[in-house]
Amino acid sequence: MTIAALNSREKEIPEFESLAFEQNGSAGKETDEELPNNKATRPPIIDRQKSCEPVLLHNMCLDLNSSTTSLQPVVHKPFENGSAETNNNHSPNFKSTLKNGPIPPSPTSVNLLREAWEALNRSRVYFRGYPIGTIAALDHSVDELNYNQVFIRDFVPSALAFLMDGKPDIVKNFLLKTIRLQSKEKRIDRYKLGEGAMPASFKVFHDSDKNYETLVADYGESAIGRVAPIDSGFWWIILLRAYTKSTGDSSLADNVECQTGMRLILSLCLSEGFDTFPTLLCADGSSMIDRRMGVYGYPIEIQSLFHMALKCAKTMLKGDDSEEGEYLIERIKRRLVALSFHVRSYFWLDFQQLNKIYRYKTEEYSHTAVNKFNVIPESLPEWLFDFMPTNGGYFIGNVSPARMDFRWFCLGNCLAILSSLATPEQATAIMDLIEERWNELVGVMPVKICYPAIEGHEWRIVTGCDPKNTSWSYHNGGSWPVLIWLLTAACIKTGRPQMARNAIELAEKHLSKDNWPEYYDGKYGRYVGKQARKQQTWSVAGYLVARKLLEDPSNLGMISLDEEKDVKPVLKRSVSWSK
Ligand code: GLC
Repeated sequence: MTIAALNSREKEIPEFESLAFEQNGSAGKETDEELPNNKATRPPIIDRQKSCEPVLLHNMCLDLNSSTTSLQPVVHKPFENGSAETNNNHSPNFKSTLKNGPIPPSPTSVNLLREAWEALNRSRVYFRGYPIGTIAALDHSVDELNYNQVFIRDFVPSALAFLMDGKPDIVKNFLLKTIRLQSKEKRIDRYKLGEGAMPASFKVFHDSDKNYETLVADYGESAIGRVAPIDSGFWWIILLRAYTKSTGDSSLADNVECQTGMRLILSLCLSEGFDTFPTLLCADGSSMIDRRMGVYGYPIEIQSLFHMALKCAKTMLKGDDSEEGEYLIERIKRRLVALSFHVRSYFWLDFQQLNKIYRYKTEEYSHTAVNKFNVIPESLPEWLFDFMPTNGGYFIGNVSPARMDFRWFCLGNCLAILSSLATPEQATAIMDLIEERWNELVGVMPVKICYPAIEGHEWRIVTGCDPKNTSWSYHNGGSWPVLIWLLTAACIKTGRPQMARNAIELAEKHLSKDNWPEYYDGKYGRYVGKQARKQQTWSVAGYLVARKLLEDPSNLGMISLDEEKDVKPVLKRSVSWSK
């Protein structure tokens, strides 16, 4: 693998070049852990009032090509229990929240930003002299395992940072090279994977005898548990739209390879089977949480990604006047309607809905069943009753027959806001919940990948005694700096830049000092993760994207989508059968 020398020039690959182509560790035992300066009463880190009024979502989905991309100023409304003046003592820059305008970095951030850009540039991976991605981590102090590869999902924040910095070439190269990897034959033992499957990661193999470089991809055959990454194809489509939106250059998306690539990715997911739900069925470990964590069936992360990819593809796919092309677009539209309805109605949980489920009757067979999935109220976990605020809500982790996973997942909820899978009211409620549960979900290092951790016997059963995913570590309730970009984007879309700023400033206290770790452990994210890599590229890139979004909120347009006009509003559960 060739890694770029710092400051080497970005180049774009000529378009038509051919390719040969222990049971819990110490951090987990933190039941009595308290936040610093947060003794008995645990005062909130941020003020509880809304940072500012949510703006109309359609105002926030910006047309980057238009000259009027400035965001609508929003007027602050005092919060319910008191005036803003009496409650802003935790927030010295409160006035800056009066508008959803740019928030410039402080002098400390300027130094950090310089360090982060240097790290991101160092992480670039070159193929035949051209930058095509970024390495997962540049940590040589531990066994590299597969962290010396370019991961599709990990490159997304890097790509957004490059796009926001006006350097689209590396992104274009990445998109073109990875879509060519899709057409390789993919086998796990004797079983051939679907044509549309995209790799989880790839590396550059240098044959020193022939002095020739090739790309070697992993489609899941080298991954823990041999699971194919369902998220890769979705991220690829989302990134193609971000590239198109940011550069205004639609020739890449229009190119035959990209059109075919999109079609193959989506045909895999839209094919008909035995499913009774419009959500996408998947195996455990097929996305960012790539180890057994009970994230199988219909996890919210995959549903949000699926929804966003469908919407992005709809804006880029060309029917080409062919029956097949038009039919695919039609199927995308229909699936979007059904998927939005299903997630908005059945994944949504707030105080009222929780109370309804608590009082559910079971064994209802007919079309009029209220408890459609036969959820047994006794399966409601105890922590949920305390966690659920009176105001606020979220999309739960999973809905399948007699099984609701009530954990809160960051990625699925933030992406749902960005793609407008969440209605404007739901988006507001998701952000309300994050504000209400700031200590639990953000703590001292943003953001929890999921909440809460699985412990004890449940941990043994669900993770299969995974020593890396002990309670409050890694995928099991760990805190992941990369997620700051998603939180920031969701904050900006819902008109709460001050909330994002609070989160970013928390991260700034630790990230450079701790050498940009992959994740943090502990209930409040106070410990550098047990096996966390240092110099983890997406931790660096996530921070850069968050700062870029705050400085120039018009960047949001790359990763935000308007609400669908043809999606009907949420229907009452009991009447959905007849609609
Ligand atoms: C770990 C993470 C995965 C990430 C990879 C590379 O396997 O679980 O989400 O893509 O590391 O950073």
